[in-house]
Amino acid sequence: MGKRGSWKTRYGFYLAAIGSACGLGNLWRFPYVVGDSGGGAFVLIYVLLALLIGLPLLIAELMLGKSSKKSILSALSGINKKFKWVGMFSVLLSMIVFSYYAIISGWVLHFLVQFFIHIPRESFEVQPLFSALMAKNWLQLGLASVHILLTIIVVIKGVQDGLEKWIGAMMPLFTVLLLLLIFKSLALPASMDALRFLFYPDFSKITWSTLGHALGHVFFTLSVGFGTMVTFGSYLRESEHIPTAGYRVALMDTLLSLLAGLLIFPIALQASNIPLTEPGLLFEALPRFLAQVQGGIIFGFAFFLCLYIAALGASIGLLEVIVSNFVDQTKVSRNKAAWLAGIFGLLLAIFPTFRDQGMLALVDSILINWLLPLAALGMCFIMAHSFKNKEKIFIDSDKIESVILYSHWLFVLKYLAPATIVLALFFQLIDILH
Ligand code: PHE
Repeated sequence: MGKRGSWKTRYGFYLAAIGSACGLGNLWRFPYVVGDSGGGAFVLIYVLLALLIGLPLLIAELMLGKSSKKSILSALSGINKKFKWVGMFSVLLSMIVFSYYAIISGWVLHFLVQFFIHIPRESFEVQPLFSALMAKNWLQLGLASVHILLTIIVVIKGVQDGLEKWIGAMMPLFTVLLLLLIFKSLALPASMDALRFLFYPDFSKITWSTLGHALGHVFFTLSVGFGTMVTFGSYLRESEHIPTAGYRVALMDTLLSLLAGLLIFPIALQASNIPLTEPGLLFEALPRFLAQVQGGIIFGFAFFLCLYIAALGASIGLLEVIVSNFVDQTKVSRNKAAWLAGIFGLLLAIFPTFRDQGMLALVDSILINWLLPLAALGMCFIMAHSFKNKEKIFIDSDKIESVILYSHWLFVLKYLAPATIVLALFFQLIDILH
């Protein structure tokens, strides 16, 4: 796409932005981070931070894209040449997350294939599936390569063609499926314990790291701090009211995470031998449950298909940022940029796949709990200072509330968000030194 296009329909934007935000972060990462952080108190802090800090930053990224019509690197250096390095840092993060995400998407692909080949047999032994996969490094790398290849193909096809069709077809189906499965999992005897675990805030479980882990997860799940939303905002049509768009995306994303919790915890607590705190939680819990449910294999196939397409949607968003920045900066063709980024992503994936799960957890923690909040801090600083005179984009003349919201939003960008991020990083440091 030589010239910057815009979404053909209003829903095109929503589908792509929600497609980027909703993904493995909600269904795979959220449950085990909640498990690891002690449940309800973490969930409460997470929801508050998503609305109070994540949403204003999401809006700011969309505004930066819409007002500059550029990707993050050019948009930031358009404000001031010195800011370019913050953009570079974000694009670098996107590259690392793209690679890391490909590994987990590969796991999803594995389960999708397993459920598919077992459809005719109607039953199968699910218990050893995840540990068997963990023992096969080459298989993990192969699956990650297939995922990267598929992402490249979709991105090369271009914004409208690539994204809208995929995600549009999947979202409603996924929601219905998820609700059906939650209905079944809430019928388990452990559901009361699960609800208490998820929603009763036991503040004695809070540690020095809780704030940082919640904040990091908010940025990750809303795709904030990577420049993804800047790119999506740049394709947004003139008539779109950004705060409303951002609010809808953040709301959908947060609801989806809570639904994932409602699905996984009754199952995991019922089984009692599933570790709540490890990245394998979703992959250990759900298949075991499905093996007992009537028609579970078909359900499993449909679930992992939807989850895979959601993972693909998020990966497309990541590759889209990398490619559009590459193209904006170097005038390399879109196709070439997509291939180069894909190959680089695969090379980065080699190291963690050939080490144990501890290595993956370390990459995850450095990336999401430390580097991502730093990137968000840089963005807060730049955007708070460059948006002083951008009321027109923010304020919807039909809605008086948006005038009040505007000053709140600037306050968050200037003071509340930076202070929270700095505090969260400081607390995490205390936890390490403790
Ligand atoms: N928000 C996505 C998720 O929750 C991950 C992601 C991050 C996607 C950054 C694109 C950019 O799965």
